[in-house]
Amino acid sequence: MMKPLFMVLLLSATKELMRKGSLCEASPCQSCSSYKESNLYVREGEMAVLKFRIPQVWRTEHNNGNVTLTWSNHSGPGRWVSGDTLVILRVSPNDEGSYSCSLIGASGQAVAMERFYIKVYSDKCYTDLAVYPTYCYEGESCYQLQCSEDNIPQNFTRLNYTWYKDCDTELDSSFENGYLSSADVKDSGNYTCMSYYVYNSHLSDGQVFRRSRTVERTVEPGSVPLVPKIISPKDGDYFEVDMGSPVVVVCRAVIEDPFANLFWLANKSFVEKDNDTLPVFYNSSKELGHEEASLVIKQVSEEHLNSNYTCKLQSPSGVVHVSITLKQKRPAPFPILVFGVVGVFVVTAVVVTVVYVQLKVDIVLFLRDDLGLHRHNSSDGKCYDAYVLCCKSNTGSGVSEEDRRKIEAVLEEEYGYSLCLFDRDILPGEAVSEAVLASIEKSRRLILVSSGSALNPGQDSQYSLLTGLHAALVERQTPLVLVQAEVRSDAGSSQDNQENLKLDSVPEAQQKLVQSGHKVTWKGSNSEPLSSAFWKELRYHMPARARESSQGVEKALLRL
Ligand SMILES: *[C@@H]1O[C@H](CO)[C@@H](O)[C@H](O)[C@H]1NC(C)=O
Ligand SMILES: *[C@@H]1O[C@H](CO)[C@@H](O)[C@H](O)[C@H]1NC(C)=O
Ligand SMILES: *[C@@H]1O[C@H](CO)[C@@H](O)[C@H](O)[C@H]1NC(C)=O
Ligand SMILES: *[C@@H]1O[C@H](CO)[C@@H](O)[C@H](O)[C@H]1NC(C)=O
Ligand SMILES: *[C@@H]1O[C@H](CO)[C@@H](O)[C@H](O)[C@H]1NC(C)=O
Ligand SMILES: *[C@@H]1O[C@H](CO)[C@@H](O)[C@H](O)[C@H]1NC(C)=O
Ligand SMILES: *[C@@H]1O[C@H](CO)[C@@H](O)[C@H](O)[C@H]1NC(C)=O
Ligand SMILES: *[C@@H]1O[C@H](CO)[C@@H](O)[C@H](O)[C@H]1NC(C)=O
Ligand SMILES: *[C@@H]1O[C@H](CO)[C@@H](O)[C@H](O)[C@H]1NC(C)=O
Repeated sequence: MMKPLFMVLLLSATKELMRKGSLCEASPCQSCSSYKESNLYVREGEMAVLKFRIPQVWRTEHNNGNVTLTWSNHSGPGRWVSGDTLVILRVSPNDEGSYSCSLIGASGQAVAMERFYIKVYSDKCYTDLAVYPTYCYEGESCYQLQCSEDNIPQNFTRLNYTWYKDCDTELDSSFENGYLSSADVKDSGNYTCMSYYVYNSHLSDGQVFRRSRTVERTVEPGSVPLVPKIISPKDGDYFEVDMGSPVVVVCRAVIEDPFANLFWLANKSFVEKDNDTLPVFYNSSKELGHEEASLVIKQVSEEHLNSNYTCKLQSPSGVVHVSITLKQKRPAPFPILVFGVVGVFVVTAVVVTVVYVQLKVDIVLFLRDDLGLHRHNSSDGKCYDAYVLCCKSNTGSGVSEEDRRKIEAVLEEEYGYSLCLFDRDILPGEAVSEAVLASIEKSRRLILVSSGSALNPGQDSQYSLLTGLHAALVERQTPLVLVQAEVRSDAGSSQDNQENLKLDSVPEAQQKLVQSGHKVTWKGSNSEPLSSAFWKELRYHMPARARESSQGVEKALLRL
């Protein structure tokens, strides 16, 4: 698709070269300010028009008559000269050769010269060496084709003209000058315009002279290629950078033209490409229809902040560029402050949560028992802090009778809790079941101590157990605290030595409720010191001490 554009460039370049000739070095005139050579391809039998273009510097001299024009080989039949133009009315192969026109100065020396080489052809109606290319795209409009020529002197008048396509097809007048509103690939071809001229003067009355011109029309399939364009950055953009840090600015362009070139300039001088040993360079990558050129500044310094960086896109259809600058990033105090404050809050919240979770028990005990900040209600109608109930664990392990007695003693004597114990506080002769139930109802907690060994018949009575559990769990009147023994794992896995307490003689449905109680694990001699975790845990689950309550005082007095 891009071939035509390239061809245009190539052709115009060659034309330029042909016109300029090989400069004065090869010129036969020593003092020429201008020397040109050109080739003229003329079809046999047609007019040849040689027009000397007087160099600008000599025009006034020429008009003043200080320099004169001289043609060589101008005389002869069928040759016509008027000033700067020589016309050979009907070219024959004999006319091939060189013709020159010189400007002769006052000294009699040529000051400017142009040499024309006439080449005659006859095999076709045009020669490939002298066609004027035009291009258009399928479905798009095509400009009209040019038939007339500027070089023909006014002494000749054009009668009419006819277009031929590829020499053999004569096109009718509807073709006019070949404008197309929507081109088709079939419209491609070499179009030759044949013009007929007559000479104004009576000298050659009635004679008609021909001159042709050929235009090659190429209709490209597909649509007009995109005009190359820089998509980003935008002109005048600035990029915020940190001093000393690397920066990459990517310039993106839409390019379909293989002759387009995308590059970076710093203050109007070129930035090196792909040389990553330099402090500033650019590299580029191409994808279908797109190109990126990345400006890489390895370490931003003051110099870079003062520079203009320009991304430039050069293509045969034009030049576009965008300029950017770098700016030093300013510290953003506001967001940092906000983040800081939020961060401090989050950290504080996390720390407080962790501390609370870790020290919850100590904190509650301190507040409740040492500072007396509790909601203990001595008028709740209860007279015991806890009812202690033993039950046989079916795992075989349990708190020994001796340890249980220790626990009861410490709770009562060290911590001043009032406990209801079956073998002490349930009077013999009472109806066991009712007495147990009544005692549990009068207690603020039900402590269930798992026991490995057999128990006294009354303590272990299934009835008292079930009614106690019922009262504690189903009616939810009395919170349940489970005291279980540490399970010694022989397999060596010390990870989970708290086995779920399974109780004999408790229906499956109530086992679940038992498991929902607060569990405290007795770790034998480890739990004996009053500072151990066992006592803290147990006290935590117990109600607030009733030291100042009337019952407590009474009990203390009674003990004395
Ligand atoms: C042309 O020549 C005349 C003398 O012959 C001179 O006065 C005049 O300045 C010249 N003109 C130029 C443009 O040199
Ligand atoms: C024009 O004249 C030169 C000599 O002055 C000669 O060499 C050349 O061949 C001639 N050209 C033609 C076309 O006759
Ligand atoms: C060409 O025409 C111009 C006027 O149009 C006239 O002055 C001139 O003499 C003519 N040249 C020849 C060679 O007939
Ligand atoms: C153009 O004019 C010439 C000469 O008068 C004549 O022979 C030719 O037929 C004309 N062509 C058209 C298309 O009128
Ligand atoms: C014009 O003619 C040349 C050969 O003379 C040919 O190569 C070229 O394809 C023709 N152009 C078109 C558009 O047909
Ligand atoms: C890169 O730039 C350095 C410094 O100007 C130069 O010495 C070196 O030859 C360059 N390398 C290439 C591959 O152009
Ligand atoms: C250009 O250079 C930079 C920095 O060295 C690198 O990150 C990037 O990948 C390079 N891009 C291309 C297309 O080579
Ligand atoms: C660009 O010009 C500015 C000011 O003229 C100068 O400070 C800076 O160093 C120049 N940058 C480059 C890369 O030459
Ligand atoms: C950068 O370009 C802008 C606008 O094109 C111009 O005003 C400014 O002076 C330029 N700066 C430098 C350092 O060249």
